[in-house]
Amino acid sequence: MFEFAITAQSGRARTGLFHTPHGVVQTPLFMPVGTQGSVKGLSPRELREIGSQIILGNTYHLLLRPGPERVRALGGLHKFAAYDGPWLTDSGGFQVMSLGDLRKISEQGVTFRSHLNGDLIELTPEYSIQVQEALGADIIMAFDECPPYPATTEYLKASIERTLRWLERCLKAKTRPDQALFAIAQGGVDLKLRRFSAEATVAFDTPGFAIGGLAVGEPKEGMYPAVELSTRLLPEHKPRYLMGLGHPEDLVAAVALGVDMFDCVYPTRTGRFGYALVPEGRLNLKLSRYLDDPRPIDPACDCYACTHYSRAYLAHLVRAEEMLAPRMISLHNLRYLHRLMEGARTAIQTGNYGEFAQDFAGRRFGRQI
Ligand code: GUN
Ligand code: ZN
Repeated sequence: MFEFAITAQSGRARTGLFHTPHGVVQTPLFMPVGTQGSVKGLSPRELREIGSQIILGNTYHLLLRPGPERVRALGGLHKFAAYDGPWLTDSGGFQVMSLGDLRKISEQGVTFRSHLNGDLIELTPEYSIQVQEALGADIIMAFDECPPYPATTEYLKASIERTLRWLERCLKAKTRPDQALFAIAQGGVDLKLRRFSAEATVAFDTPGFAIGGLAVGEPKEGMYPAVELSTRLLPEHKPRYLMGLGHPEDLVAAVALGVDMFDCVYPTRTGRFGYALVPEGRLNLKLSRYLDDPRPIDPACDCYACTHYSRAYLAHLVRAEEMLAPRMISLHNLRYLHRLMEGARTAIQTGNYGEFAQDFAGRRFGRQI
């Protein structure tokens, strides 16, 4: 269980198989976000059809509602949400940070007010693990502190040290052998602190490692060196998960640097806003120019939306605020990212990742003339 077998490499990009109790997944991969135990608007059948391999759920939201013991009693996320493939739950560390004035951090954990009913709740490393054990995901995440950007060096250092102590507490609290706990390295965009955090985190020898604290508003010139250093410091033979990234160009670049897993609300959230991902960038289906466009979103896409509907029809649905629009655009956007990762895996298998990345960049950043 939780074996990670790298099957090919192309430069620093790798492709492999990660074994979980609910199935083997192929990396590199993108995980759709199902915050409340549901990828907004899409059924597990639709997700399987487009090639989703792991669904991400959130401890913070599911703790508040419907509650971990209810999910456990109803068979855990696999049964409760009727998706029996692999799940990953985030620990709540990131979500409570975004509560702003509603939360207080101490050595013990984070105290916050529920955004639903104002209840005072304390999320500690032990409680996060207890909740994640009740939810029952295949991969669970360490309870960490994700500092905001920008943060002072002193704050970053203290937060890294606290996250390491919390990691130790998470590992002590963990009881289920059928769940893999991934540790999360922090450090913002400070390379010295990134190194310190990565090296100390790796010493815990968890079955996988995440790169956290990025994509929180820092410039790309800060983010990429942090990713590049992290993948050099994280173990070769364990999956590397870059948290919160979902722009296609970031995925292609991070895979080149040796990242294996991604998640982000971007494809589904931007889809709900009427934006469809295409190789050249994204189409804003709210624009009137698409109202008479008989072409599919992407003629090369095999998703249900692209094989059945025109841009004109989808643009009409967006304007009419029909719920089929966010569903179909989300479906297409996720399929686009899954196909991008499929292409990456194939290119790595054949030793052609460089060519794949060049081809992607040529379309994404080339000017249409
Ligand atoms: N999601 C995006 N970034 C992070 C992070 O740093 N920590 C956690 N737990 N989740 C995240
Ligand atoms: Zn499509």
